[in-house]
Amino acid sequence: MAIIKKFRIKTFKKEKPKIDLKNISLSFNKRQILDDISLKIQEGEICGILGPNGVGKSTLFNIIIGLLKPDFGKIFINSSDVTNIPINRRALEFGVCIVPQSGGIFSELTCEENLKSIAEIILKNKNERVFNVEKMISKFQLESVKNIKGKHLSGGQKKRVCIAMALISNPKIILMDEPFQGLDLMTTRELQETIVNLQTEDNSRCCIISDHAARDLLAISDKAIVIANKKIIAQGSPSELIINKNAKSLYFGDSFKIN
Ligand SMILES: Nc1ncnc2c1ncn2[C@@H]1O[C@H](COP(=O)(O)OP(=O)(O)OP(=O)(O)O)[C@@H](O)[C@H]1O
Ligand SMILES: [Mg+2]
Repeated sequence: MAIIKKFRIKTFKKEKPKIDLKNISLSFNKRQILDDISLKIQEGEICGILGPNGVGKSTLFNIIIGLLKPDFGKIFINSSDVTNIPINRRALEFGVCIVPQSGGIFSELTCEENLKSIAEIILKNKNERVFNVEKMISKFQLESVKNIKGKHLSGGQKKRVCIAMALISNPKIILMDEPFQGLDLMTTRELQETIVNLQTEDNSRCCIISDHAARDLLAISDKAIVIANKKIIAQGSPSELIINKNAKSLYFGDSFKIN
């Protein structure tokens, strides 16, 4: 297991679901993508979502944030049924945020303006806005590019701006869709630390992360699931998951190890 795991303080002994997905199904143009997905994510938990390309991980994220409505099933946040609550209210009232798989920043705005634009929507207090923008620029090492337009940032820099934009609002439910994609090794390690620290700072948060960098993801996950053939085919702690027969045959293969 990676060193990062040593930083983690696990304190969720009691069951307190932050998110409760009940029997979620969704089809696009009669092609079923997700079939009867049920999943609970506890307060304080980091849940990794794995699965082959095109299996529906981003789709599931879009259902959780309220961009897509499931054909069947319900979504509960803090025990409230939010299935019919729109995306903006899920963000403002329930603290849901997402780092999308691609895009997510305004290409004509500078890095700093991108951060300010989100801060102005979310944070009422001007001093808090200025403080948080500066904090994020420093945390994600964006000083040297803060005046560069989004369209001129490198792939990894864009990703860092996106992550900073998501975290600036002090979110309670953090979804990250392939956050490690395009990040260099040190930034990957720093992001792992940031995610773990977010949880230890506020134990009522939860974090759901999908990424194909399975080792980096499992190193910080409390539990993880594998989606394949429209369903959750395996779930458990990282060490349970990698020896799960279904997970091996449909996702990890035979030779995958995490240390
Ligand atoms: N709006 C849409 N209309 C039709 N089909 C869609 C739509 N959005 C996604 N799909 C299809 O749904 C399936 C799941 O897509 P999704 O993006 O959720 O996969 P994923 O698991 O995130 O894959 P990846 O690992 O490549 O990111 C894919 O077959 C995709 O083509
Ligand atoms: Mg995806």
